[in-house]
Amino acid sequence: MARTKIAAVLRDGQPGTTVDVRGWVRTKRESKGDFAFLELNDGSCFANLQVVVDGKLPDYATLIKQITTGASVAIDGEIVASPGKGQRVEVRATALRLLGTADSTTYPLQKKGHSFEFLREKAHLRPRTNTFGAMARVRNALCYAIHEFFQDRGFLYVHTPIITTSDCEGAGQQFQVTTLDIAKAGSGLRAKGSGTEKKNPDAADPASSSVTQPLALSPQPSIDYSTDFFGKKAGLTVSGQLEGEAFACAVGDVYTFGPTFRAENSNTTRHLAEFWMVEPEMPFYELEDDMALAEDFVRTIIRKVMERCPDDLQFFNDRIEPTLLESLKNIVDHDFIRLTYTAAVEILQQSGQKFEYPVEWGHDLQSEHERYLTETHFKQPVILTDYPRAIKSFYMRCNEDGKTVRAMDVLVPRIGEIIGGSQREERYDVLVERMKECGLNPDDYWWYLELRKYGTVPHAGFGLGLERTLQLITGMVNIRDCIPFPRVPGSAEF
Ligand code: 4AD
Ligand code: MG
Repeated sequence: MARTKIAAVLRDGQPGTTVDVRGWVRTKRESKGDFAFLELNDGSCFANLQVVVDGKLPDYATLIKQITTGASVAIDGEIVASPGKGQRVEVRATALRLLGTADSTTYPLQKKGHSFEFLREKAHLRPRTNTFGAMARVRNALCYAIHEFFQDRGFLYVHTPIITTSDCEGAGQQFQVTTLDIAKAGSGLRAKGSGTEKKNPDAADPASSSVTQPLALSPQPSIDYSTDFFGKKAGLTVSGQLEGEAFACAVGDVYTFGPTFRAENSNTTRHLAEFWMVEPEMPFYELEDDMALAEDFVRTIIRKVMERCPDDLQFFNDRIEPTLLESLKNIVDHDFIRLTYTAAVEILQQSGQKFEYPVEWGHDLQSEHERYLTETHFKQPVILTDYPRAIKSFYMRCNEDGKTVRAMDVLVPRIGEIIGGSQREERYDVLVERMKECGLNPDDYWWYLELRKYGTVPHAGFGLGLERTLQLITGMVNIRDCIPFPRVPGSAEF
């Protein structure tokens, strides 16, 4: 008999038919030696399958003693209509095999109700809990909806590199990739901000021997990268946008969707050192087109996940965030508010609200400001446009006012920014000037500039953070609980 997944048994199983089900025991209840009830979960759905084990089965007493929470079992049985509440059918076991025990004195998930902090230390086992099983299914449904959204609209999925020599955001937050022997090539290397300066014993020039060499991608004059693996200083990508633009300016609408790395030392509930980002890039789009696509995108993917994971989302609503379903429905059913950064600053300044960080034109908005706009003022997602050029990346198209750029951020309740995007600067000369203004060397971006030299077109794009979107959809407070194995400062254990 082939194994049937529990989701299929609960959905389609007909009383009177036989099944082979397998999974991990969530709970066991024994009833005076005559019967035992097992709650079995195999991850295929939120619900457990109730299995009734008859005390007359061979080896019942020995087996049932060894079957504790966390043990894995294989069960042949008959589907019967369930007399209990909450499930349509259950399984009456006709054969029971113990696949693996889980010693109840040491199994970390023996008890329910562990804190999320505790479970982060058990990232290899936490998928076996209700919350992280639900998160895995929601994440899967979200990724499926993302691909479906773009595929339905004729976008090509392109793979942009993980290792790159260009810093897309120009913010010096790249992790370095090197085969140089750190011990030899730079005993002066130190982690950014660690404070101590060491001498480099291999340096021929005594004048350079005390140069400190931050690990982030900033100029390190004493290291000769021409001898490094790529012949140049390389790092992990902070965004696939620049390479995405090369394809958008050739094959039309594209999207890249992959892991992204940032060595920002942000110990917040919204930052990861490794996260996933979806980045569409569209030729012939201006900022308004970009915003319309971003809004359609966010509303569509949330609606699809709501349709496909109702049980998981109900759980998050019941156990994590009581306003969750209502707030998601509000996002799906209503148009997003659109206003300029300047108008938002005025609203914030006139709000009478006391913020930890004061609001001043020209400064980046903090998440407290973004949340005030989306949760208190508008009670809706908001798209802010035309940010000050001094706080935005070099590639954003400059407005005629000389002060702002064609940027747009999508802000949502509870999280703040989930999308950052812009119309791109397609004018060669303006882009070169902008790079210099941002302290970048145009020579380092020569290939990106050639996209403006040969057949340049207006174009635009954006990036959606997958884990922040999962925070929004599940109501989970900490982004570290929205990725299977979180990477954050000081932690990459699993
Ligand atoms: O606003 P960001 O930095 O934009 C870009 O990277 C552009 N190159 C995107 C583009 O136009 N193609 O990042 C985009 C989104 C943010 O809105 C946020 O959702 C997410 O990526 N993000 C992070 N998520 C988790 N941890 C971090 N450290 C993140 N940094 C950005
Ligand atoms: Mg941003």
